[in-house]
Amino acid sequence: MFVVVGATGNVGRTLSSILAATGAAVTAVSRGRRPLAVPEGVRHHRADLERPESLRPALVGAEALFLLVEGAGAHLDMADILRVATAGGVKRIVLQSSQAVGTRPEAASHAPLHAIEDLVRRSGLGWTILRPGGFASNAFAWADPIRTARTVAAPFGDVGLPVIDPDDIAEVAAVALRDSGHDGRTYELTGPALSTPRQRVADLAAALREPIGFVEQTPDEAREQMLRFMPPPVVEGTLAILGAPTVREQRISPDVAEVLGRSPRSFASWAARNIDVFR
Ligand SMILES: NC(=O)c1ccc[n+]([C@@H]2O[C@H](COP(=O)([O-])OP(=O)(O)OC[C@H]3O[C@@H](n4cnc5c(N)ncnc54)[C@H](OP(=O)(O)O)[C@@H]3O)[C@@H](O)[C@H]2O)c1
Repeated sequence: MFVVVGATGNVGRTLSSILAATGAAVTAVSRGRRPLAVPEGVRHHRADLERPESLRPALVGAEALFLLVEGAGAHLDMADILRVATAGGVKRIVLQSSQAVGTRPEAASHAPLHAIEDLVRRSGLGWTILRPGGFASNAFAWADPIRTARTVAAPFGDVGLPVIDPDDIAEVAAVALRDSGHDGRTYELTGPALSTPRQRVADLAAALREPIGFVEQTPDEAREQMLRFMPPPVVEGTLAILGAPTVREQRISPDVAEVLGRSPRSFASWAARNIDVFR
């Protein structure tokens, strides 16, 4: 049995479907703050990582656990979560971390996630760590302005990053959960090419078959907007990556292709599959 924490999110939803389609038993875990739609055959268990004991019933009989944390996980007691997982019989953990843990080890924004990675590596369980770069699905933040005004405002319009399709993260996670051959590996997950915010808006316009305007925000305008829903260190860390990515953050990682045997999906592909949200 597989347990997927964050099962109603960008990655967890697809991951639960992929695992269920193989005929495996899957327990989907979330707090239930989002709609609880889970694929047919998947059992949902309401639990909160902030209360590790609430996970215990979900973990009985679990062989492998997919774990993600909200933000950088600063508020969580990961040692306790790992104790509950080990006591429940979990043998392997796949942790969704972030590329920035590797590329910006000194950044305050990602220090808690760094500590969580270290605890997972020392847990005594089999582990695989996934370090994705920016998600294609961050473009959902543009859905309202595209629906209502056919315009996007974003900073650093011409800075390219190899954004990753969350469905590719889910496919890599499914492989690592099922196959112990990925134990002890840390994978950096990116898309197949650099794409700028301006190009991503053009891809959405092509999928919509309607023009979408692009307005370049100043970093201060973007900061003010992001501070409404992100803590200040995460805002600064995110702006640094979006505005001045390192060479490593602009590298196309070979890891998705190595694990899946195919190239990662493009942003245009993500846009085509999700365009109904922007209509
Ligand atoms: N977005 C990016 O560009 C990016 C890039 C690299 C790394 N990351 C990392 O990816 C992670 C976010 O992944 P995502 O976008 O797939 O997440 P997401 O779509 O925001 O989904 C989060 C999921 O976790 C559940 N959840 C949240 N807090 C929980 C808790 N305390 N206990 C149990 N379930 C909880 C949510 O459901 P409920 O709310 O109902 O509980 C939901 O199912 C973060 O760690 C972030 O640092 C993101």
